[in-house]
Amino acid sequence: MKKKKIFIVTGARPNFMKAAPLIKEFKKNSNFNHVLVHTGQHYDKQMSEYFFDDLGLPEPDIYLGVGSGTHGVQTGNIMIEFEKVCFSEKPDLILVVGDVNSTVACAIVAAKLFTPVGHIEAGLRSFDRTMPEEINRVLTDQISDYLFTTCRDADRNLIEEGICAEKIHFVGNVMIDTLLSNIEKSNKSNILEKLNLKEKNKIRKYALLTLHRPSNVDDEKVLRDILKALKRISRELPVIFPAHPRTLKQIRKFKLEEIMSYCENISHCELNFQVQDILALPPIGYHDFQCLMSHAKIVLTDSGGIQEETTILQVPCLTIRNNTERPVTITEGTNIIVGNDADRIINTALRVLKDGVKRKKIPEYWDGKAAERIVEILRSRL
Ligand code: UD1
Repeated sequence: MKKKKIFIVTGARPNFMKAAPLIKEFKKNSNFNHVLVHTGQHYDKQMSEYFFDDLGLPEPDIYLGVGSGTHGVQTGNIMIEFEKVCFSEKPDLILVVGDVNSTVACAIVAAKLFTPVGHIEAGLRSFDRTMPEEINRVLTDQISDYLFTTCRDADRNLIEEGICAEKIHFVGNVMIDTLLSNIEKSNKSNILEKLNLKEKNKIRKYALLTLHRPSNVDDEKVLRDILKALKRISRELPVIFPAHPRTLKQIRKFKLEEIMSYCENISHCELNFQVQDILALPPIGYHDFQCLMSHAKIVLTDSGGIQEETTILQVPCLTIRNNTERPVTITEGTNIIVGNDADRIINTALRVLKDGVKRKKIPEYWDGKAAERIVEILRSRL
């Protein structure tokens, strides 16, 4: 029997940890010939290559080299380049993950060539159409043939949007597959020592911050208010801030550098515990970040995936947004929505630092076997 050719599409940083467990499962299964496609949406070493190395991902089989641009330019360029590859390679199925521009661009190309599309992490909804990711999610789900979901509320969202139940498969969370299979390696990271956060086996208290959403970093007042709130929190404990390149650009553009210290090279960072501060760093690799997250007293973020990872690690997470497409992290996990108002961020953080958050439970099927379930479904259907 001819092997089925499966494209696994990645493009941006949060995609790589979702692709890794799928590749591992496809390798075990002789029915499939998998092809790893990287659109090049993220291209800096720190945003892409480091993750391939950390996660043991093979070099992409196909690299489209598309790069940055406005939404129209980036999405359009990915479509143009991806269509050429589909014509020459003729895949039997295209798997897209998450909600970035690469996800929707490749799903549209596939659907118009009548190639079946599988969307991993389908059905998540913030119900906020000002988020580019929400547009990407809704459109990708509408044209996908296999919708693999991480939680029951995603199934309900899809049914309400008229998607037929036979296409929906509740399989769990591939990002958690990666987190669980990498715990040992993450524990071996020496980032705590490098940042002077560990001395003689004693780990100091610190907060961990990430920030990159356009709604938080593109407006000067909003970004200034958030950073001022963090500055206040840094009087209680130092704030470690691995910063996304677009956030660093905005901080420089708005001349907000004086609110924090910036350390260009992590190997030469000397965190001075006499001066409480926000310490901004360049983006860091997967294991270093997981290690920092698992030992943090509190995580403050506008990322989607980090809300899920902190739920598994049972670390309090304050989400600097007005909504989340991952409500299960609030009802079952450690997540609290705080918006971007400075007083609310400060007051909630101080309360959480004093009282902690109630530990709840691990969401259903976030057990490290999501990719296994996906590949089994594809094996039985294709
Ligand atoms: C994208 C995703 C977002 C995801 C995030 C994770 C979309 C619409 N957004 O946002 O959902 O949470 O990735 O990081 O797809 N840049 C670099 N180097 C890089 C990549 C980007 O410097 O390797 C800078 C460029 O200035 C670029 C900007 O970051 O213009 C934004 O990159 P882009 O891929 O458009 O969106 P992200 O903000 O990274």
